[in-house]
Amino acid sequence: MQRIIITIDGYSSCGKSTLARQLARHLRYIFIDSGAMYRAITLYFLRSHINISSNKQVKKALEDINLEFYYNEITGENDIYLNGENVAIPIREMLVSEAVSEVAAIKAVRAFAVAQQQKMGEQKGIVMDGRDIGTAVFPNAELKIFMTADPAIRVERRFKELYAKNPNITLEEVRHNLEMRDYIDSNREVSPLRKAPDAIVLDNTYLTIDQQLKLALGWVKEKQQQL
Ligand code: DC
Repeated sequence: MQRIIITIDGYSSCGKSTLARQLARHLRYIFIDSGAMYRAITLYFLRSHINISSNKQVKKALEDINLEFYYNEITGENDIYLNGENVAIPIREMLVSEAVSEVAAIKAVRAFAVAQQQKMGEQKGIVMDGRDIGTAVFPNAELKIFMTADPAIRVERRFKELYAKNPNITLEEVRHNLEMRDYIDSNREVSPLRKAPDAIVLDNTYLTIDQQLKLALGWVKEKQQQL
């Protein structure tokens, strides 16, 4: 079967990465969580006290950032490395979640991340999830999925995930963070979150993880047969 590019875009906490990871596993494709790249850049900016309103500081900082993904044999995850350090855990902290949308809205940051993402897709056989993958990163991808789910369900899912790691977190904090990120991601000037005209909508409010995987695998098959 011909190897294709699969893009998965959508709002925060819709389960994009879960689906992308499973698809990649089934198809033996590479899985790239593009959000992890924006989070790692944000972590670097926070640690280095970069003033994000200063173009000069941002550009200089980007020159000092090296991002790589390495497969973690123990967890089965594709961990992100920031200048040689595995930052898969720190990039999920609330401090990063609170700052990442502002950082991801910066033109130079997007150009930096998108160039690397496009390189990763040169050999095809990739599933990448994010906000602009089907619209800006791989506009010619063979299969584009746009995921959505009821906001209340998304907050609940995200809360459960974060609460397991940090019992001090509140539902209100999680709701506020999701609403804020969705707003900034959809309203920024450069590559805002949009459904690509040729993307298939996947609303997983009432779907189990297995059901959504089955649906998506069916679409992959269809697309491959059309090639
Ligand atoms: O998928 P995530 O929640 O880990 O993404 C973190 C942030 O990065 C999100 O608020 C928006 C931004 N992002 C983006 O602008 N473009 C992408 N392709 C992926 C993520």
